[in-house]
Amino acid sequence: MKGLSEGLILGIESSCDETAAAVVAGGRRVLSNTVASQVDLFRKYGGVVPEIASRRHLELILPVIREALQTAGVTLEQIDAVAVTHGPGLVGTLLVGLSAAKALAFGLDKPLIGVNHLQGHIYANFLVEPPPEFPLVCLVVSGGHTDLIYMAGHGRMELLGRTLDDAAGEAFDKVARSVGLGYPGGPQVEKLARSGDPEAVPLPRAHTEGPYDFSFSGLKTAVLQYVQRTGPLNDQQRADLAASFQRAVTSVLVERTVKAAEAKGVRQVILAGGVAANGALREEMRAALEPRGIRLGYPPPVLCTDNAAMIAAAGYYLWRAGVRHDLDLNAVPGLGLGIGG
Ligand code: KG4
Ligand code: ZN
Repeated sequence: MKGLSEGLILGIESSCDETAAAVVAGGRRVLSNTVASQVDLFRKYGGVVPEIASRRHLELILPVIREALQTAGVTLEQIDAVAVTHGPGLVGTLLVGLSAAKALAFGLDKPLIGVNHLQGHIYANFLVEPPPEFPLVCLVVSGGHTDLIYMAGHGRMELLGRTLDDAAGEAFDKVARSVGLGYPGGPQVEKLARSGDPEAVPLPRAHTEGPYDFSFSGLKTAVLQYVQRTGPLNDQQRADLAASFQRAVTSVLVERTVKAAEAKGVRQVILAGGVAANGALREEMRAALEPRGIRLGYPPPVLCTDNAAMIAAAGYYLWRAGVRHDLDLNAVPGLGLGIGG
């Protein structure tokens, strides 16, 4: 393994309920991508319990790192840098990954690179063939964020718009709960929606002052009110509601993204974050962009939801740009992209 020429990055991610480590070469080639999900643990609580998550990360972090290195077939000495999520996320869980990364960087005398989790989601797109081309518009849709970003090049970002209240993934999770689906809600709503009629239940599309902003709390409330009004839903009504809700979210995401792409004159749009795994969103976005000659890119579902390959990929470009962090790097739960978001 030609460590230096390849840029071999060990990525570590622990911002929420996935303990993850990965080795990525040259920011593009995934040699390993180990994810230990705590989803099963939190199903019975209907969401993440931060204290329990932190303890679980503590148990999992070293075995997960070990497995990532073993699968990649590389030793710690061959790694060029350790990239780690330092925010945004839960402070207690972030600190577990960050402490492990610092210990490794210090012990091995290798560079430590703090990565913004959202930037990681965006850079998952660089792990697929063909890679995205700049300039581009990126829609970040995760459990905590809904941002529309213009990227002129690596690290050159401009925030075009964002959600004014709930994130898209959060809306999926809350609506899932209201129709009796478990946590995490997104994938289950998507599954249920397949047998429903997206036009069956009229739901509001929020108007926002900013042309590229979003708002999902009114939609969420409308779904809750519909459930209360209608009483116990039968299977078809649940499916129709799931499909109508999903369409209400995707139609707004598609409309604003297309508008932004056209205003910026880009030929490339990419999707990032857990909700980017949603098949309806991908299909509707592609159907809107393709006739306009705009290419759509998105990562495979495993790279859409939280993982460490995306952190290693983002870390690679920072490493290449000469970014190095000190060992006093802290966890920043509310870390923004530094572009006004
Ligand atoms: O990016 P992510 O894994 O974690 C955060 O950084 O937030 O996103 C998790 C979110 C959850 O809200 C989950 O319900 C949603 O992504 N999600 C989906 C799908 N898969 C995950 N939402 C809609 N459709 C999906 N297939
Ligand atoms: Zn995430």
